[in-house]
Amino acid sequence: MSSGDARARTVRRAGILAAGALFLGGCGRKLQSSLDPASSASSQIAGLWWMLFWIGVFVFVVTMALMLIGIMRRPGAAPGAPPLGGIPFVVLSGIVIPASFLLVILFTSLKATVALKPPPNQLTVQVIGHQWWWEVRYPDQGIALANEIQIPTGQPVRLELTSKDVIHSFWVPRLNGKMDLIPGHPNTFWIAADRPGTYRGQCAEYCGTQHAHMAFFVVALPPAEFQDWVGQRQQPNPEPRDPHLTRGKLVFSQAGCHDCHTIRDTAARGTAGPDLTHLGSRLTLGAGTLPNTTGNLEGWIADAQSSKPGILMPRSYLPPSDLHDLRAYLQSLK
Ligand code: CUA
Repeated sequence: MSSGDARARTVRRAGILAAGALFLGGCGRKLQSSLDPASSASSQIAGLWWMLFWIGVFVFVVTMALMLIGIMRRPGAAPGAPPLGGIPFVVLSGIVIPASFLLVILFTSLKATVALKPPPNQLTVQVIGHQWWWEVRYPDQGIALANEIQIPTGQPVRLELTSKDVIHSFWVPRLNGKMDLIPGHPNTFWIAADRPGTYRGQCAEYCGTQHAHMAFFVVALPPAEFQDWVGQRQQPNPEPRDPHLTRGKLVFSQAGCHDCHTIRDTAARGTAGPDLTHLGSRLTLGAGTLPNTTGNLEGWIADAQSSKPGILMPRSYLPPSDLHDLRAYLQSLK
């Protein structure tokens, strides 16, 4: 075997492996896939996707087969022999069959569009896009969060979407399609989850340096648990008793954190950064950038720029004891 054959085989093998890895990579992580629907709306979208996929496969296979027949027939064909199938074949394969496929696609898409109309709903959540995080408000319940939306299962939730700066796009692939957040132009949208779970969402419109770090989570709870969650979040924020937490709260105001952040029932009323009233129970820091652990939270307070360059949060330069107490205070905010 020549070295050229060996190289060709290696290239072919690498190609097959790469294609396999891409395919499996796409299928394996179901955390954020339109093809793993968890609501009637996303089932409609997934259904459309699969229909287009199988029509595409069918057209590809038939076209390739016809091409192959044409190639193989050519050497034996007498000069001047009539083309295969003649005019009826051209009309059928060039007009009738493509037009029927396009009509099927058109009507199925229209049916899905009707099914994606917002159904009647009780709960309204406001989502405001910022570079690069999500402000989340429950106007009727008086709850403010960031980068996480809790919803009850089995019922549609109305979303009011807008932006503070540039255009962002709200997308939770397992729960519905996309909708833009446009400054000065509120859009309404809806999501629903058929079963409890944590559904990852993502900004789907390029919005600057940290667009890729603009994720969020929708946490769907059974209705009774959701009501408990609402009740807990409406409780007044207790004054810390532990001396470390009291000191942490003091550090929070002395270091100027309250200029940008709000903590309900305290003097902190800043609005440039996320509301921290329930920071301790949040899943991630920096809109999905890091898991919300003790080490990550201290690292984030000390130097958020190294994890998410370009955001508004400055380095803090706090002495270690202040940093520990501040972190402990923020973690206590559930
Ligand atoms: Cu916000 Cu991309």
